[in-house]
Amino acid sequence: MTVHFIGAGPGAADLLTLRGRDIIARCPVCLYAGSLVPEEILSHCPPGARIVNTAPLDLDAIIAECRAAHEAGQDVARLHSGDLSVWSAMGEQLRRLRAEGIHYTVTPGVPSFAAAAAALGAELTLPGLAQSVVLTRTPGRASAMPEGESLTNFAATGATLAIHLSIHNLGRVVADLMTAYGSDCPVAVVYRASWPDEKIVRATLSTIEAAMGEGVERTALILVGPALAAEGFDESCLYSTDYDRRFRPQGARE
Ligand SMILES: C[S@@+](CC[C@H](N)C(=O)[O-])C[C@H]1O[C@@H](n2cnc3c(N)ncnc32)[C@H](O)[C@@H]1O
Repeated sequence: MTVHFIGAGPGAADLLTLRGRDIIARCPVCLYAGSLVPEEILSHCPPGARIVNTAPLDLDAIIAECRAAHEAGQDVARLHSGDLSVWSAMGEQLRRLRAEGIHYTVTPGVPSFAAAAAALGAELTLPGLAQSVVLTRTPGRASAMPEGESLTNFAATGATLAIHLSIHNLGRVVADLMTAYGSDCPVAVVYRASWPDEKIVRATLSTIEAAMGEGVERTALILVGPALAAEGFDESCLYSTDYDRRFRPQGARE
C-alpha cells in the first residue's frame, strides 16, 4: 500500500502529468486539497473511489484517512495544487507517514509560477537582466517569515520575484520593493492562471495598485522584475552562430 502525493497543477485539468493521471486512475482512495484542485481531475478516479476533500480536515484526520487505507490495503492518491515542492504542506504529512511506516511516492506537478509565466508569455530569466527567480511570499496569519527572507533582502538581488500568497498585501509588497526596483519596474499580477476565469494585470510598481480593480483576491501571483516587460535584452549564446557547443560544434560545420 502506498500514498501517492501528486502535484495536480495550477488549475487547468489538462495541466496534469500523465503519470499523475494514471496513478489517480488506479487508486481506490483520493484525498484532494480543496477548491484549487479542479473537479475534472477527480473524474480520473476509478468508479466507486472514496473521494475526500481535505480542506476542512486537520493533519490528524488526514493521516487517519491514510492509516485506514493502509489497514485496508488500498492505495491513496493525495492531490495538492500546483507542485508539491512549495507551500503544499506535504513535508509534515511525509514526516507522519514515515513515523507510521507507511510507504509514499511523490509525483511533481506544474507550479503556479510557471503557469503564470506561460499566461504572460514571459521568460523570467532573460540574459543580462535576470538569471534567478525567487519563489517567495509575505508573512501570513499562521506563517511568519524566517529571519533574512524579507522582500527587501530579495529585492537587493534584482532577480525576478514570484510572490505567492500575498495579493491581499499588495501595498506592503510595493512599498518593500520600491527602493531597490524603482517605480518603473514592471509588475504583473496573474489571477487563477490557467483557469477559465484567469485575469492578467500588467503595470509598474507605481501603478499596480490603482490598476488592480475589483475581484482579484487569494489565488493570484505577483511577479516583479525587469525581465517582465523587457525588449532590450541580450540574446543567449545557446543559438548564436559562433558559439561552439556540444550538439553544434563549430568544427563540424567545416
Ligand atoms: C498554498 S500556495 C500553493 C502553491 C502551489 N503548490 C504551487 O506549486 O504553485 C497558494 C498560492 O499559490 C499561488 N497560486 C496557486 N495557483 C495559482 C494560479 N492558478 N494562479 C495564480 N496563482 C496561483 C497563489 O499565490 C496562491 O496564494
